[in-house]
Amino acid sequence: DFKTTMASVEFPSIFLNASGVNCMTVAEMDEMINAACTGGVVTKSATPQQREGNPQPRYYQLEHGSINSMGLPNAGFPYYLDYVTKEHAKPTILSVAGLQMSDNIELLHKIQASEYTGLTELNLSCPNVIGKPQVAYDFEETDALLAEIFSFYTKPLGVKLPPYFDLVHFDQMAAILNKYPLTHINTVNSVGNGLWIDIDTEKVVIKPKQGFGGLGGAMILPTALANVRAFRQRLNPSIKIIGTGGVTSGKDVFMHLLCGADMVSVGTALLHEGVGIFQRLTDELAAIMAEKGYTSIEDFRGKVQDF
Ligand code: DHB
Repeated sequence: DFKTTMASVEFPSIFLNASGVNCMTVAEMDEMINAACTGGVVTKSATPQQREGNPQPRYYQLEHGSINSMGLPNAGFPYYLDYVTKEHAKPTILSVAGLQMSDNIELLHKIQASEYTGLTELNLSCPNVIGKPQVAYDFEETDALLAEIFSFYTKPLGVKLPPYFDLVHFDQMAAILNKYPLTHINTVNSVGNGLWIDIDTEKVVIKPKQGFGGLGGAMILPTALANVRAFRQRLNPSIKIIGTGGVTSGKDVFMHLLCGADMVSVGTALLHEGVGIFQRLTDELAAIMAEKGYTSIEDFRGKVQDF
């Protein structure tokens, strides 16, 4: 089995849903908890108030992945705080997303004051809110926000990050993150603002933002691997990594782990295949490990070799 401890929390498996998939309602979160081979559940990113999200269609399946501009539809922070505060058979990660600086501070004050003692993940990377830039692409704002948060916040906290594409940006962001007692980063969120066109209709395939949306699925695996590897090379060992992006098979999981991921989450492929995917990924990873003579993930985690 693939038990793992991340930030002092014991997970029965390395596998999680990527936030946004299979985690909007209590029924969906319970399904993640109860499914075979899952480590627990990450909630849909919660905003202070309930939101309907962007107009439909706002998700479209591509040949090698997906494009979405959901616009943070969610049942509101109290709904998700209530869920994670209850007892569950597996751990929870409470994902929160402020629409502005003051929202983030307010949400974290509420979690600090609550009975919840589990992990929280602050989403610094939602690309789909009309008129709002991704916080984590503004390094000064990210630093200022984390400084403010850690002036009062003492519970376990990680951050969800967008993909970076320049090695200097990894240096700059890791230097900021290393200043704070973060439990983990979750990398990557969707690759922001792709575009797809139906050539019969000559129209974009999703309605919000004139068709621009976040990319996920197999097409983003190399970007996800690069982000996991680059951050593992730069972050303090105390900051764990949830590898997210492009996982459809045990091979993809194996690569995320070689890059240094502590846990691995699945979004697009989970949406297409359902929670049965976690048993398949577990079996496929176990077969690769058996063939290579590995008996534990520790035998190879983070040990990708240079050419
Ligand atoms: C949404 C998309 C994201 O990538 C994210 O991090 C949060 C929310 C959304 O559109 O709902």
